[in-house]
Amino acid sequence: MDVDMNDETAEEKYEEGFGFEMDRKPMSQGAEARIFKSMYLGKPSIIKQRFAKKYRHSTLDERLNKHRVRAEVKGIMKAKQVGVETPALYFVDGERNEIVMERVEGCSAKEWIEKIRKENDEKEFKDNLSSFGILLGTKVGKLHAASVVHGDLTTSNVLLRDGNPQQIVLIDFGLCSQMKITAEEKGVDLYVLERAIASTHHDSEQLFKSVLEGYEKSGGKGAKGALEKLEEVRMRGRKRDMIG
Ligand SMILES: Nc1ncnc2c1ncn2[C@@H]1O[C@H](COP(=O)(O)OP(=O)(O)O)[C@@H](O)[C@H]1O
Ligand SMILES: [Mg+2]
Repeated sequence: MDVDMNDETAEEKYEEGFGFEMDRKPMSQGAEARIFKSMYLGKPSIIKQRFAKKYRHSTLDERLNKHRVRAEVKGIMKAKQVGVETPALYFVDGERNEIVMERVEGCSAKEWIEKIRKENDEKEFKDNLSSFGILLGTKVGKLHAASVVHGDLTTSNVLLRDGNPQQIVLIDFGLCSQMKITAEEKGVDLYVLERAIASTHHDSEQLFKSVLEGYEKSGGKGAKGALEKLEEVRMRGRKRDMIG
């Protein structure tokens, strides 16, 4: 990917009186952001840096980046407030479109699922997926009940602290929305997760079934409407697949 990067200036900036160190090489490079391992005031952290994209008009690109940084910060804070764990925020640089946050040590749900697939027999695998799915569903239900739609629910955006499936930490809130949330948007949020699970993990229908079970339990008044919308969104998806 063609990106503007200038590690030197980033390093210089953070080193000045911040007790800050950062890796030169990103630990993750996505389409929108790079993640660097760092230390912030002695704490293991990461920097999520949204970079300029050459293929997007620069004013629009800058606006979008700022919007996503703001959405991410607000999403992380709101989730925390309603009891859904997210990384601690350490520092936000609105000029450079960077967020410094707690580094969650452990693994992603994606890695965990593929690990237990290898280590467990079929029944254990399903049981484990099931209890994890229910817990994940309750988290998404809580978010939705608080009018937060994540926008990019995938098993990579769910981290497990110390690799423990009971300790779910949600990340990657750049696409989240919190204003005037409709049942339709919640349904789409669930559908995105369903498709992500289906395309990332084979033989894992159990997982999304359990997610919905947990969701219904904790989603409050709005859960039923969102589940109905999910059904509609699924049907539209199927039609699209048929027409191609
Ligand atoms: N707070 C964090 N602690 C540990 N790892 C993280 C953290 N935030 C992001 N990561 C890692 O970096 C990857 C990309 O970060 P993410 O916020 O999902 O950005 P992207 O938009 O590129 O997907 C994650 O899938 C995860 O592996
Ligand atoms: Mg991500």
